[in-house]
Amino acid sequence: MPMDNTLIVFASDHGTVDKCARELFRLIDGKVDICNLSEREMVPDLTKYDSVIVGGSIHSGKIQEEISRFCERHLDELAVKRLGLFINCLLTGEMARKQLEDAFPEKLRLRAIVLDCFGGEANELKMTVWERIVTTQMIEKDDLMVELSKEKIQRFARLMSEADNIPQ
Ligand SMILES: Cc1cc2nc3c(=O)[nH]c(=O)nc-3n(C[C@H](O)[C@H](O)[C@H](O)COP(=O)(O)O)c2cc1C
Repeated sequence: MPMDNTLIVFASDHGTVDKCARELFRLIDGKVDICNLSEREMVPDLTKYDSVIVGGSIHSGKIQEEISRFCERHLDELAVKRLGLFINCLLTGEMARKQLEDAFPEKLRLRAIVLDCFGGEANELKMTVWERIVTTQMIEKDDLMVELSKEKIQRFARLMSEADNIPQ
């Protein structure tokens, strides 16, 4: 079953998740709609979609409130979709894995066809002074990935499109 009807729902503070969502939009076959929850509150009717991708970024350890609310509100509906979940963040390895785990409800994580971190960006021009201070401190003390992984985005799109990846 090729992916033929997909919704990408995301939130983005300074554009990184937006960029990844648009790249997935470009890579995924079939009809794909995008819904940016940072700019609108209305979510399209989920019954129209076979597949849903949900993405957000991590700020002070948490995914955007809009994404948490969306996942909680539509938990049962999302759990029966072909589901892909992703985050953008700067931390890597075990810390990134933990952030990914905290970002989405367990019920969705267990059902997801693919779940990944694509890395992050530090776009200083778009940041407030406070945000610049926080990211500079993070960059100085941690093992970070201040870039996006094109390979991970491509792998994510491929796994979402593969015929065998149908939820049990
Ligand atoms: C104020 C602030 C706090 C952040 N906190 C975290 C964090 O706790 N963990 C992390 O891995 N990355 C953190 N980041 C990095 C963001 O996740 C990263 O910049 C990401 O690319 C932002 O995506 P967006 O612009 O689409 O929201 C933080 C960034 C800012 C500006």
